[in-house]
Amino acid sequence: MHREKSWAEPWKIKMVEHLRMTTKEDRIEAIKEAGYNTFLLKSKDVYIDLLTDSGTNAMSDVQWAGMMLGDEAYAGSRNFYHLESAIQKYYSYKYVVPTHQGRGAEHILSQTLIQEGDFIPGNMYFTTTRLHQELAGGTFVDVIVDEAHDTESEFPFKGNVDMNKLEDLIKRVGPDKIPYVCIATSVNMAGGQPISMANLKELRELTNKYGIPIVHDMTRVAENAWFIKVREKEYENHTVAQIVYEICTLTDHATMSAKKDPIVNIGGFLATNDEEVYKKSQNMVVIYEGLHTYGGMAGRDMEALSIGIEESVQDAHIRARVGQTTYLGEKLIDYGIPIIRPIGSHGVFLDVKKFLPHLSQDVFPAQTLAAEIYIQNGVRTMERGIVSAGRNKETGDHNRPNLELVRITIPRRVYTQAHMDVVAECIDDVFERREKIKGLKFTYEPEHLRFFQARFKTID
Ligand code: F0G
Repeated sequence: MHREKSWAEPWKIKMVEHLRMTTKEDRIEAIKEAGYNTFLLKSKDVYIDLLTDSGTNAMSDVQWAGMMLGDEAYAGSRNFYHLESAIQKYYSYKYVVPTHQGRGAEHILSQTLIQEGDFIPGNMYFTTTRLHQELAGGTFVDVIVDEAHDTESEFPFKGNVDMNKLEDLIKRVGPDKIPYVCIATSVNMAGGQPISMANLKELRELTNKYGIPIVHDMTRVAENAWFIKVREKEYENHTVAQIVYEICTLTDHATMSAKKDPIVNIGGFLATNDEEVYKKSQNMVVIYEGLHTYGGMAGRDMEALSIGIEESVQDAHIRARVGQTTYLGEKLIDYGIPIIRPIGSHGVFLDVKKFLPHLSQDVFPAQTLAAEIYIQNGVRTMERGIVSAGRNKETGDHNRPNLELVRITIPRRVYTQAHMDVVAECIDDVFERREKIKGLKFTYEPEHLRFFQARFKTID
């Protein structure tokens, strides 16, 4: 009999953290108190926490051992030099500025490169990235391929840039108004969808023609590299580490939220090949983050991160990582639950317009569904739809994204396959009673990144 070879995690469990089960009554009370926003729940009230893969990873024994080697000198910590050399070795960038997390790097790079009135094309927006571009006076322009906004499309590289959209923008506003193109690998808001190496090479050629640099949001670069390995014929015999390196060499600057790919709980950095950008960023980091040899991280955090970078580009790790996400996604497909396909790298995304077709976007269907999933069995997920999309800064209206999603995000090396079974059953139970689900309305709407702190009440 022919059968697919199973993937198994390339590690075993040495320490466990107990989970707390709650009753349905407890959960109804807890979500009400949290204003129907899963970001406002207390962790103690959550059973399986799939809110995010950010900072929620389990470090290896080697990383924990590295924590004991923290050199907590204010200046010139040895761990910084280890981090710098890991970034140069695995990611190719020459210069490194550490930051407390990804948005710290986005802030500094945006302030350094963007002038009032500039346009920043990108392969779909990310919440914090776009906000920092706007705060610096720029306007984000989406140049991702149309397939990325189409939940039906099975296109294997939904993270690709549409070169026509990009070139149209360049011709319309002029290359001088475009300080850089911002490219995310494994596009979060599109459902963890990859960009292909062929597309990146094409992008490099086009941007070279106009003298426009590329900023790489490399938060999930290794996950993207895995998809290139298994979907792009030319790369099937490359290692993930080789592909990651090549992706980075096609770009000029990078921002990293180390809380994802590199398997740590806190940290980030900005990296660049441009000495002038490096110097300006180094000067800014001391204002907002900390000295340029720690940037908001403890020495021990930088050590764990240096080791995590190396662990994160191993084929066996990424295969199991993406394998677990695929496992959950396929289970949901078997139950007939509408999800974004192809299944992404860091999470499974429910297609809420199909899950709750009777709810209009004005009553925040994805926000509602995330609350219902929590009530069902204590599984915490997050909204990625109209609430996350915020308001148009000119008109003040809601931005209305085509994608109205609930993200079921999987932390690295934390949950087992049995947990994934329980999650799939929980979603299926909510699916069974979907017609009875009603929407929400705002009771409090913060000005920036509203999804984090907004509060809602149910519509009767
Ligand atoms: N870029 C991407 C693609 C991200 O997913 C994130 C964070 C950031 C930048 C910002 O990094 O959180 O370290 O400041 N994403 C988290 C998430 C919050 O849940 O997807 P940060």
